[in-house]
Amino acid sequence: MIVLKSKNEIENMRKAGELLASVHEKLREMIKPGVNTQQIEDFVEKYLKQHGATAEQKGYQGYPYATCASVNDEICHGFPSKKPLKEGDIVTIDMVVNLNGFLADSAWTYPVGKVSDEVQDLLEVTEKSLYLGIEQAVVGNRVGDIGHAIQQYVESKGYSVVRDFTGHGIGRTIHEDPYIPHYGLPGKGPRLKAGMVITIEPMVNTGGWQAKMDDNDWTARTVDGGLSAQYEHTLAITEDGPIILTKQKG
Ligand code: MF3
Ligand code: CO
Repeated sequence: MIVLKSKNEIENMRKAGELLASVHEKLREMIKPGVNTQQIEDFVEKYLKQHGATAEQKGYQGYPYATCASVNDEICHGFPSKKPLKEGDIVTIDMVVNLNGFLADSAWTYPVGKVSDEVQDLLEVTEKSLYLGIEQAVVGNRVGDIGHAIQQYVESKGYSVVRDFTGHGIGRTIHEDPYIPHYGLPGKGPRLKAGMVITIEPMVNTGGWQAKMDDNDWTARTVDGGLSAQYEHTLAITEDGPIILTKQKG
């Protein structure tokens, strides 16, 4: 069941999104060789608390942390760890902020120090694919138009799109209808309506799209050991087009 949000609810989610975006703006400065993802986790929890918010992921279906921190071949749901990040790594930090009962969700992949041209290209293509998906998030289009735009572009660049995890509706709970695959056929799936709030969060791999699960039953990584990047925004679909609720400054 797809629940449409009122202007007031969207405004509350925008406030959660603005706070979340400010976390990513801080992480941009903080992530460097030698830093570990447990330090990032601790910073995020403290920062959210200071700003009157909580980390919705912690305890969600038993997930033990405020953030997901997925390094290199980890696709998503990586656990924060004390292992230092090293020059040339990539790390995706994903989190859901709860501010006054309203949620926003955004993941971002950070280069650690200087990365190779190949890695930089993966990051650029993945980020651009998110915006191509968002462009399709207009009233009257269908869910498949979003996935199709993303898949088409990503595959044209020689990369693959993860199948096992999708974007989703979001509101007062993390995962709501409709689910938004990052691949698919134009003109297929539920029609997009004003008042829907969704995430678009393509995970893009340098090798094949296939994922396997770690022993912790959470972390997904590429089967072939290729790298995986991800950019995610929460956005509202309105008569005037999509509004990104987790937009960062600069
Ligand atoms: N932020 C995730 C998403 O983009 C949700 C994480 S689920 C959790 O869908 F269990 F890891 F919290
Ligand atoms: Co997320």
